[in-house]
Amino acid sequence: MDKGRILIDEETLESRINELAKEITKEFEGEQLTLICILKGSVYFFADLTRKIDLDTRVEFIRISSYEGENSTGNINFKLKLDEPVTGKNILIVEDIVDTGHTLKELIKYLKEQEPKKMKLCTLLDKPSRREEKDINIDFLGFTINNHFVIGYGLDYDEKYRTIPTVNCIPSSLEEMKEIDEDREQLKLIKKH
Ligand code: IMP
Ligand code: MG
Repeated sequence: MDKGRILIDEETLESRINELAKEITKEFEGEQLTLICILKGSVYFFADLTRKIDLDTRVEFIRISSYEGENSTGNINFKLKLDEPVTGKNILIVEDIVDTGHTLKELIKYLKEQEPKKMKLCTLLDKPSRREEKDINIDFLGFTINNHFVIGYGLDYDEKYRTIPTVNCIPSSLEEMKEIDEDREQLKLIKKH
């Protein structure tokens, strides 16, 4: 099976995730935190990140179906809901990637209605060039990436490739292949603060 080219390797993922876990631990120091995994894409990121967070935590899982067609921006279809409302709790949404932002906008609205104490958003990847919802505020971000379709480390194309341990791209041209190689070198250099 063609797994494409590596955009973010395991070492780079691990070191950035360790940093994110430290930032999150600091943000919620001394408090309880409910970590919300958005299935299926976040599964490996969630597992790796949350095991590094040094707080009194709970875990929850939400599964929302992806959009079909282009106009379905109004509603999200829950395939798995929270066991109980998050009213009065500190919550951290853990996403794989923010693309147009439509999914998150609806999810944030749904969670806000339950009146959590504090709600923050963590995503492994951000593709800002594709954003349509401008008011999404990412509190903890792994990597900003250019406009490539990525697979692996939980992310799929037609449900395939999720179990690849790295974030990969399948280039559609020689040009894109070169871009991916350049981006990979850039992403390796990312060290926040
Ligand atoms: P959004 O609603 O457009 O922000 O898209 C959110 C969902 O689309 C993500 O949670 C992913 O499941 C999926 N998605 C967006 N971009 C990619 C990609 O490059 N690879 C795989 N899945 C993606
Ligand atoms: Mg997803």
